[in-house]
Amino acid sequence: MEIKIRPYKASDAKSIVAILNYYILNSTAIYDYDLRTVDQQLTIFKEKRTKGFPIIVATIENHVVGFGYYSEFRFREAYKFTVEHSVYVLPNEHGKGIGKILLQSLIDLAKKQKLHTMIAVIDSENQSSVNFHEQFGFETVGIIKESGFKFDRWLHSVLMQLLLEQAT
Ligand SMILES: CC(C)(COP(=O)(O)OP(=O)(O)OC[C@H]1O[C@@H](n2cnc3c(N)ncnc32)[C@H](O)[C@@H]1OP(=O)(O)O)[C@@H](O)C(=O)NCCC(=O)NCCS
Repeated sequence: MEIKIRPYKASDAKSIVAILNYYILNSTAIYDYDLRTVDQQLTIFKEKRTKGFPIIVATIENHVVGFGYYSEFRFREAYKFTVEHSVYVLPNEHGKGIGKILLQSLIDLAKKQKLHTMIAVIDSENQSSVNFHEQFGFETVGIIKESGFKFDRWLHSVLMQLLLEQAT
């Protein structure tokens, strides 16, 4: 089955929220506690798009099976060439190459936008995501210990970085 990548449309928000809410409820991949509403997601993505950041979706037979985006890493001006990205794939579609296509597309877009570096902030329990990013040349540059608290335990954030000039 062919995986297609295209820009996000507002009509994708419902499918995207279903993916996000799965990870909010069942994992430490995202540090939210409360389920997201479609309206909240529409507002979040509208703001990112207004700032010129890309949001992309992966589809199989016109169904959204994953999405990815990047936006500012931190808000001070000198960070303007650095972005933090996120990629999420429907849990029952893992391991089919969808995440890889999404992340490669984000890297290509970041290069086109003349950005300098991409950052992934990954929960330390999410080793599969750390491995996934290593395949693209992301390196672990730091761990912020006990930076999150979810499911009654402290969580550690792994910071991974890709310098785009060194990316394939
Ligand atoms: C991390 C994630 C995006 C990977 O997407 P995916 O579509 O499952 O990954 P792919 O099929 O493209 O696999 C890419 C590689 O990563 C590995 N991999 C990483 N996570 C995997 C998983 N959960 N299941 C299977 N393989 C996985 C595979 O071995 C594969 O390598 P290979 O091609 O050499 O075999 C996906 O597991 C996910 O949505 N996880 C939850 C959310 C999350 O952690 N997002 C990242 C935060 S930035």
